[in-house]
Amino acid sequence: MTGPAVILLGAMGAGKTSVGRELAARLDLPFDDLDAMIVAEAGRPIPDIFAHDGEDGFRRLEAAVLERALSASRGTRGVLSLGGGAVMAPESRERLRGGPIVLLEVEEQVAAVRLGRGHGRPMLAGGEDPMIRWRELAAERGPVYRELARWRIDAGRGTAPAVARAITDMM
Ligand code: S3P
Repeated sequence: MTGPAVILLGAMGAGKTSVGRELAARLDLPFDDLDAMIVAEAGRPIPDIFAHDGEDGFRRLEAAVLERALSASRGTRGVLSLGGGAVMAPESRERLRGGPIVLLEVEEQVAAVRLGRGHGRPMLAGGEDPMIRWRELAAERGPVYRELARWRIDAGRGTAPAVARAITDMM
């Protein structure tokens, strides 16, 4: 029994969801998005989960849903896109270690265009400029992303289908 075929990791605005969908179509595999699984499980959107249960509540749910997604018997066999913070819980990091993980790397300027004012992303809310927080998170999480990644790809140039194609060429 195996887990997901490919796991996509990276910062907010790296394009994990759109590239994941394209990659799954290319590989003819199912696609799962961890954030969408969390929303389905909670029955409400991510900003509501943060508002009612705090970041801690969201992280607990995220870790539980990820554990299920990675489970050898009940988990996904396809492409799994993670949320930007899903690797920060130590138990999740250990579960992911050694997996078929692709890091989508993106420069701040590109992420800024994609994220706009950061709508729908509570981790970027509350400040003047959402990219100040993005930068702090990127500095804190980057080393963890790079440590877990088996492959790294520049996801800042090119369309989602082009990045997906580059991933299949590389793997
Ligand atoms: C988060 C990233 C989001 C989502 C949640 C928290 C983070 O996913 O999981 O808002 O902590 O970086 P994306 O990376 O898909 O935006």
